[in-house]
Amino acid sequence: MLRDLIISNWSCRRFDEEAAVDRQTLEELVDLARLSASAANLQPLKYILSHEPQENAEIFPLLKWAAYLKEWAGPSPGERPAAYIIVLGDTQISKGFGCDHGIAAQSILLGAREKGLAGCMIGLINREELREALAIPPRYEILLVIALGKPREQVVIDEVGPNGDIKYWRDRDAVHHVPKRSLKEIILD
Ligand SMILES: Cc1cc2nc3c(=O)[nH]c(=O)nc-3n(C[C@H](O)[C@H](O)[C@H](O)COP(=O)(O)O)c2cc1C
Repeated sequence: MLRDLIISNWSCRRFDEEAAVDRQTLEELVDLARLSASAANLQPLKYILSHEPQENAEIFPLLKWAAYLKEWAGPSPGERPAAYIIVLGDTQISKGFGCDHGIAAQSILLGAREKGLAGCMIGLINREELREALAIPPRYEILLVIALGKPREQVVIDEVGPNGDIKYWRDRDAVHHVPKRSLKEIILD
């Protein structure tokens, strides 16, 4: 069921780094993005695929992980993503990308879950250094990085409590808790 797939699609930040993700899998995921909605059907998004340890190692330090977890420096070696999909906006096709990259990223992540993988959209990117590291031409805007791999993390969805705090947190067993607002709160009558 779609609801189950969506619930299982938490933002995963710890992986079994040894479990490789091959190029064909990444291409199949981008194909889901290719078939998704795009404003005015302009389809301005382009993708860079990374699954080799050396390229992954260049990308990893340029991403900011879980900003609310101040004491956590991000996944340690062995728990890092086995692959990345970098989502770019082609400025020769459009100057703005609206929500195309969000839709594309969700399609990719749902497809990843269906394949037993998991991932996380990363918007906090050291864009300048990533552009330099991967020699990304100026015509492409760096929109999102999607980290992917075999999940090694336990996550619980909670309801936002009376204090209204929406910050995710980790308990003593390193279980990741994500507070979600209730339906009652978000549907305005
Ligand atoms: C556009 C966007 C950008 C995000 N950027 C980051 C990021 O830079 N680093 C990170 O660790 N998580 C990032 N996230 C993941 C969110 O923190 C996550 O979606 C949120 O905590 C809710 O958790 P859930 O996805 O497990 O439901 C991003 C999510 C979105 C939609």
